Amino acid sequence: MIAPSILSADFANLERDVRMLNGSDAAWIHVDIMDGVFVPNLSFGLPVTEAIKRHATKPLDVHLMIVQPERYLEDFKKAGADVLTVHYEASTHLHRSLQQIRALGMKAGVALNPHTPVDLVADVLGDLDLVCLMSVNPGFGGQAFIPQTFKKVERLRRMIDDAHAKVLIEIDGGVGLANAADLKKAGADVLVAGNAVFKASDPAATIRQLNEA
Ligand code: DX5
Ligand code: ZN
Repeated sequence: MIAPSILSADFANLERDVRMLNGSDAAWIHVDIMDGVFVPNLSFGLPVTEAIKRHATKPLDVHLMIVQPERYLEDFKKAGADVLTVHYEASTHLHRSLQQIRALGMKAGVALNPHTPVDLVADVLGDLDLVCLMSVNPGFGGQAFIPQTFKKVERLRRMIDDAHAKVLIEIDGGVGLANAADLKKAGADVLVAGNAVFKASDPAATIRQLNEA
């Protein structure tokens, strides 16, 4: 599944870009929320997420790069999130947050920074729908893919399969046509792509190519 990241869209033409995604082979629309504290950058928040939701015909995959994400779970449900991902590093009570996300009727995700070992989610695999492996340090689009991610995908795939858990592996950061096929081979289920899609001359064609890679 391909989840183009709206962070790389033209914010002055969000409706146009969301329509393009609606008509494309994208499975989800990835929505990056940054607070300037957990990550050094600010993106956008609830009103913009709501505006995207008004035009989107595909599920919103909301990635919270914020401290104390538990304060905003219900707000993002109301804004239209279908998948809600919190960071492991920002969650003191991760298990509780995951339960709350599911209780609100969303798929629950946890994101791991490049330095965070995949083993740390072993005891919550049954409470999760998705693990997002960051393949860049979160905060900005257009960064270079960190190759160590391949080992993490393979290891996490084994953990999930051994536990007979139903958890999707998502890769976020620096994904494009150069690594999409290898990431799928390593065990990835969802590929997030920002710059690779929106800086392409034909974004919809690039989404199709990523899908078929
Ligand atoms: C990074 C974000 C990513 C970003 C990916 O902090 O979480 O979702 O938009 O952008 P690219 O694909 O350009 O690396
Ligand atoms: Zn993201």
